[in-house]
Amino acid sequence: MNRDNSVLSTSRFWDQRYRAGDSHWDLGSPTPVFVDLLARSILPRVGSIAVLGCGRGYDSILFAKGGFNVTAIDFSPLALADAADRIRGEGVAVRLLEHDLFSLPDSLTAQFDYVLEYVTYCAIDPERRMEFLKVVERILRPEGIFIGLFFPVDGRPAGPPFSVDVDEVKNELQTRFDLILQEIPETSVKPRKGKEVLMIWRKRTSAQSSERGGMQ
Ligand SMILES: C[S@@+](CC[C@H](N)C(=O)[O-])C[C@H]1O[C@@H](n2cnc3c(N)ncnc32)[C@H](O)[C@@H]1O
Repeated sequence: MNRDNSVLSTSRFWDQRYRAGDSHWDLGSPTPVFVDLLARSILPRVGSIAVLGCGRGYDSILFAKGGFNVTAIDFSPLALADAADRIRGEGVAVRLLEHDLFSLPDSLTAQFDYVLEYVTYCAIDPERRMEFLKVVERILRPEGIFIGLFFPVDGRPAGPPFSVDVDEVKNELQTRFDLILQEIPETSVKPRKGKEVLMIWRKRTSAQSSERGGMQ
């Protein structure tokens, strides 16, 4: 029988985790994988980026320092308060948005050059994964880029974090996105080494999508 994971869709659950100091996912710094990604000049240009489930804001600050125009989204007021302090301390500009990522306003549709995911996809109710990917697609501009560092990919039986099925992500995205890069990063933090997969996808324009559809 499937466990009821609906509590994971509430900000109260996540706020309580932050309040209790039960936030073992928190690296206390940006992931070295994103530090390395920015250094490798793989991304075509700086631009606007939405960070989904930004937590305490480390990766958001990293991208802001890299020149990106960052919108960091989370529905936990405690995580955002902590992120706000950190952002202020670092003296960078990050727009913080307290919102449920599953009900983002229409005004955000097709607004971003990039969307960033790290340790949020594995933390939501697994039943909502396709919905999550639809959100990514909706808020990206045509030819916008989805950077997903998917952890964990180790097939663990329960969560959160729930194990990510990379093939499931690919099956869902490949009809509307092109996969630019997929790799198991060398630079993952030690406990996550070999257990996470970096994927970079480019969203097709509607013309590109219908061209592909016609060829199938
Ligand atoms: C496991 S934490 C990861 C945080 C951050 N990405 C990191 O790597 O430290 C998941 C985060 O997603 C947020 N979150 C979960 N579901 C959400 C939702 N539906 N809308 C907005 N934020 C959500 C939680 O509040 C939490 O901060």
